Amino acid sequence: MEKTQHAADVSLVWFEHVDRFWSMQPTRFAFGLMTRSKAITYDNLALRAPEFVAKTDCAVADEVAAAGFARDAAAPVPPMFQPFRLRAMTLANRVVVSPMCQYSAVEGAPGDWHFVHYGARAVGGAGLLVTEMTVVSAQARITPGCTGMYSDAHEAAWRRIVDFVHANSAAKFCLQLGHAGRKGATRLMWEGIDEPLAQGAWPTLSASAVPYFPHSRAPREMTRHDMDMVVADFVRATERGERAGFDMLELHAAHGYLLASFISPLTNKRGDDYGGPLANRMRFPLEVFAAMRAAWPRSKPMSVRISATDWADGGLGPDDAVEVARLFAAAGCDLIDVSTGQTVPDARPIYGRMFQTPFSDQIRNEAAIATMCVGAITSADQVNTIIAAGRADLVALARPHLVDPSFTLAAAGWYGVEAVALPVQYEAARDQLLRNGERQRAEMSDLRHKARPKAHAATFKQAAE
Ligand SMILES: Cc1cc2nc3c(=O)[nH]c(=O)nc-3n(C[C@H](O)[C@H](O)[C@H](O)COP(=O)(O)O)c2cc1C
Repeated sequence: MEKTQHAADVSLVWFEHVDRFWSMQPTRFAFGLMTRSKAITYDNLALRAPEFVAKTDCAVADEVAAAGFARDAAAPVPPMFQPFRLRAMTLANRVVVSPMCQYSAVEGAPGDWHFVHYGARAVGGAGLLVTEMTVVSAQARITPGCTGMYSDAHEAAWRRIVDFVHANSAAKFCLQLGHAGRKGATRLMWEGIDEPLAQGAWPTLSASAVPYFPHSRAPREMTRHDMDMVVADFVRATERGERAGFDMLELHAAHGYLLASFISPLTNKRGDDYGGPLANRMRFPLEVFAAMRAAWPRSKPMSVRISATDWADGGLGPDDAVEVARLFAAAGCDLIDVSTGQTVPDARPIYGRMFQTPFSDQIRNEAAIATMCVGAITSADQVNTIIAAGRADLVALARPHLVDPSFTLAAAGWYGVEAVALPVQYEAARDQLLRNGERQRAEMSDLRHKARPKAHAATFKQAAE
């Protein structure tokens, strides 16, 4: 009963905000309507109404063609395999390896672990990789294991990884830059996430002098001089990122770290021009963004990761997030990476599959800016559902990529996407990948047909009850 009620609630939200989708192409509008409660997905529909899904694929492909890409022939590839462009950067598909700290850097430098980690995921077919939060100074670290971009050694170590990714895959590589703020000087994830370091801690900065946990060290409230230093750190790291060869830059303004601490009223208690209403709280994050944008090549895109809600009373909500997105877009941001929470320890997030996607949907369709969604998205079916319904332009997966670097290649096999990029060393696997995918789909469809009368009977019984 709870599941049914939850589906009804999610569905209600769609109807209440139907004006968001008014201007959508009619088939995609219908696809969004069909999949609004998450109970029906792209693959479900492909079994029940293949012609409708084929029409949806064509509608997505037409939109992509209108953006200047060559149109696929009669049967276009599924939405997740459609290319996407931001400024001069073209992605081969819509799958993104979400940023994930590895807590394994030595003195800020990425090493062999990072080389293998990023290399494997690039070869695994995702269109875009985002680095873990890479910090702009030693004081900006979350933990002693965080990667940095504040020395020549860091720049050279990243360059080696970027070069490998470019030489051996079709993936593009985005550098996520951040500053830990009051969540700095904490332990490695596996030793106690967000817990203060027992030894070797460094002083931390934040919008206000409010500690994260009651037992965390209090940060210092930033002065204007601190702000100047931090802006300069971000600019230097941006210049290093360009020299290291990254294709894109993401500013981390989410999860309660330094810039997020300015945006949320729960962590920003300032009485000066940088506190109070949202426009004031955005002043410093926008200043950092503008300085980075000016130092980053015009042809290369930039994104910002935000927390679209604090999941806490008195905190940021989705309507604020739309405004935050608009302000960053006006400053030259090309894509909002929509995450949530992690601002305060007593937040009460509502988890569930694709649980953050509605925030991306709202920002994309109200602020008219490209978005990337993330959070409990685990299957290619969900990726296709989200893209086809216009809830996001890119879909990031974090934990699924930890255990399956080749998530995108496996999906290409399942959907029979022949053109997926494979390094020459792995070319021998292509035919088998596609054959196995075809067989699995045939078996699934067969099973479905055999099970259908029973499933229908059960549904009618349920509905009658
Ligand atoms: C081990 C780990 C490290 C993470 N590190 C970062 C990070 O450095 N920067 C960031 O923005 N998000 C980070 N995240 C959050 C993920 O990018 C993602 O938003 C979150 O895990 C939800 O996606 P998922 O359900 O696909 O795992 C991390 C997540 C995990 C699991």
